[in-house]
Amino acid sequence: MDQIAYVNGSFVPLSEAKVSVLDRGFLFADGIYEVAAVLDGKLIDNASHLARLERSVGEIALALPETTARIEEIQKELVKRNDLVNGMVYLEVTRGADKSRDFAFPRGVKPTLVMFTSAKDIVDAPSAKTGIHVITVPDIRWVRRDIKSVALLAQVLAKQAAAEAGAAEAWMIEDGKVTEGGSSSAFILTQDNVIVTRQNGSEILPGCTRKAVVKLAEEHQFRVEERPFSVDEALAAKEAFITSATVFVQAVVSIDGKKVADGKPGPIASRLREIYVDFARATAT
Ligand code: PDD
Repeated sequence: MDQIAYVNGSFVPLSEAKVSVLDRGFLFADGIYEVAAVLDGKLIDNASHLARLERSVGEIALALPETTARIEEIQKELVKRNDLVNGMVYLEVTRGADKSRDFAFPRGVKPTLVMFTSAKDIVDAPSAKTGIHVITVPDIRWVRRDIKSVALLAQVLAKQAAAEAGAAEAWMIEDGKVTEGGSSSAFILTQDNVIVTRQNGSEILPGCTRKAVVKLAEEHQFRVEERPFSVDEALAAKEAFITSATVFVQAVVSIDGKKVADGKPGPIASRLREIYVDFARATAT
């Protein structure tokens, strides 16, 4: 059966879900998106995703066409209509479709809001057991990476380079330091057992999973330091891992073909994954 999508007020079969060629998301990447995980039919850490959505649209002066409370209702309705058990809900809001292609904001145009779901077994994904390989690429993105913009060409190229190298993620490098992954936050565990991840700022997206994992790690008495780290530091580390809504916590076992420690997922990444999954189940809405 065709999946159901949401487009501007209507639930429609995915194959019939369409927006105009004049939509500013399509023409200018003038839009914001969010991805929230679904476990056992419930949304994970969704308040955090909706808070970031509000912040992102605020940063580009785009008014949401619905309240966040209504957006959550639509997310839940879509999960229900698609009988989604495990996976994610994608949502995108753009500055809408005007009558022509003018760069400046149009007046009186309603923003576009679309959503769809996809199934994925995040908890039992094979890569959760094996860990993943990452490559490194220069970070060629714009300077406002804190905004979850749909302008993802740099990440598309980074993740394609990773796929061609047999890797699942690309760590982006700026001034000799890792910023983040193409679609995930980057972490290491140093030899003296400090969890290190780059501090939030305009250089990275403030990951919702990153935020939860940092808080949970501190609650479980791990030491966390928020600062940039280099690839050399990662290769000398005890462990490395990534976080995102679509993988939760996943160990990194090699970087550019060089093993991290013994090339196997480390115990702390595995433990943080368990802690995060427990948190996700306990707080799902
Ligand atoms: N990406 N950094 C970047 C550049 C991202 O695109 C993402 C998420 C993250 C992790 O954020 P969170 O923990 O809130 O998912 C970090 C989503 C999953 C995507 O583009 O599919």
